[in-house]
Amino acid sequence: MRIKEAVFSGSSLRVDRRPLPRLPEFAFIGRSNVGKSSLINLLAGYGNLAKTSSTPGKTQLVNHFLINGEWYLVDLPGYGYAKVSKKSQESIKRIVWDYISNSDEMMLLFVLLDARHELQKIDEDFIYMLGEEGIPFSIVFTKCDKLSSGKLALQSSNVKGKLLEQWEELPPVFYSSAHSRTGREEILDYIDSIFKTIKH
Ligand code: GTP
Ligand code: MG
Repeated sequence: MRIKEAVFSGSSLRVDRRPLPRLPEFAFIGRSNVGKSSLINLLAGYGNLAKTSSTPGKTQLVNHFLINGEWYLVDLPGYGYAKVSKKSQESIKRIVWDYISNSDEMMLLFVLLDARHELQKIDEDFIYMLGEEGIPFSIVFTKCDKLSSGKLALQSSNVKGKLLEQWEELPPVFYSSAHSRTGREEILDYIDSIFKTIKH
């Protein structure tokens, strides 16, 4: 898929306040600092469309980016950032679940996992809830540039193995690096393939 245009269309705290018009949405979630905003910038092909930061907790709202005037990339606030208050963690959780469980336009949720780490309890719990709620998702390992290819293969097969203790099969899994700009074509092609199933 070619991205000809990517524009920020607005931030919201509630799903019914999302920017209009309603169009298909592909959303990105994961622990704070995992690289959601960076991946959105990589996919969109624009340097700093979504604001990124080395300090976790940068994205606090649901941000919509309109692509080719036809669909949205949706940047969600990260979960699991221990340094913010319990109250603000709860409020982020509410914002995220309100969006993912109530957006009729969300075609797929990409769950991002840092390729360097074992599967964390918070990610496992989050993915489990997606299953319970029947929310379609796929997995993206981020920051793959930080590992050798051997270590990446080992690490990702550990994580997949852990998930397979809970799931009979896994959704598609992608490998990305915003730094070495890898994974872009694969993810965009997958988004494109989902569009094709909608149109038929
Ligand atoms: P919050 O909005 O705070 O939840 O974070 P986020 O998940 O949007 O992460 P963000 O994209 O802001 O990136 C966090 C940090 O990780 C930044 O310092 C990025 O430069 C770095 N980063 C993101 N993606 C990659 C990557 O693929 N490789 C490397 N090496 N660093 C990355
Ligand atoms: Mg962010």
